[in-house]
Amino acid sequence: MIRKLTLAAAAALALTSGGAEAAGGEGREITNYSFSFEGPFGRFDTNQLQRGLQVYTEVCSACHGLRYVPIRTLADPGGPQLPADQVRAYAAQFEIEDPATGDFRPRTPTDHFPGSSLENAPDLSLMAKARVGFEGPYGLALRPLFMGIGGPEYIASLLTHYTGEDKFEAGSMFYENTAFPGRWIAMAPPLSDGQVEFADGSPNDVEAMAQDVAAFLMWAAEPKMMARKQTGFTAVLILTLLSVLLYLTNKRLWAPVKARARQA
Ligand code: HEC
Repeated sequence: MIRKLTLAAAAALALTSGGAEAAGGEGREITNYSFSFEGPFGRFDTNQLQRGLQVYTEVCSACHGLRYVPIRTLADPGGPQLPADQVRAYAAQFEIEDPATGDFRPRTPTDHFPGSSLENAPDLSLMAKARVGFEGPYGLALRPLFMGIGGPEYIASLLTHYTGEDKFEAGSMFYENTAFPGRWIAMAPPLSDGQVEFADGSPNDVEAMAQDVAAFLMWAAEPKMMARKQTGFTAVLILTLLSVLLYLTNKRLWAPVKARARQA
């Protein structure tokens, strides 16, 4: 029995750890970055979310949008938790056309982030849940079970896995990227070392910024993840307690019947 268990555990380990690199299917290379929000008790790291917001704002928002994300959520507990005045100032940087008057006005916290400004750059609101970093392996859902689907790992890997090769094809530039399905992506490498200065002096090499912005995009896609995990845990706890009580009740209820059966 114990041998069987260790065998199963070893198999699960082999399947999940399978090397930090090259975890993705189709020959893709997805680095298994570890994020603070992973696991049943994982939590978003407020400072990391703030840095990710900064990377997003200074770099990605030149092309991409977050049109499903209300700006006011930047103040929510569990998110980047910006103070209210900073959220107002953040919102006011972006203009929006007022549908009532047709005039442009600065956004307020109740407005959403602007959408993509580059036509072929996809909106990033749900990107962290729309992309899969870890598939399979081989039809078993084991790796996703232990590691999640790897959306943020995919985003961070996408930003760090450019090879430096590019080609001009059918009227546009493509850049070789070993994390991107199909290898050739129309997005030029957006990050370079030291591009964003963090107020807290955190590392700002490409790899660090990629993880920060990936964490921020995970929060954008699933802002209530922490609350969900907490509710889930409480539910499992209560159900476990309920099972024990039901088992004991059942035992007690049938005890006289069983005793009679034994006598007969
Ligand atoms: C100069 C414009 C530009 C900037 C800046 C930019 N992107 Fe992109 N991005 C694009 C374009 C264009 C695509 C579509 C590429 C394609 O489908 O070939 C894209 C695609 C993506 C995708 C989707 C890839 C997929 O699997 O379909 C992600 C994720 C992404 N970008 C993240 C980012 C992040 C994060 C940043 C900031 C660090 C960023 N981008 C900065 C232009 C940009």
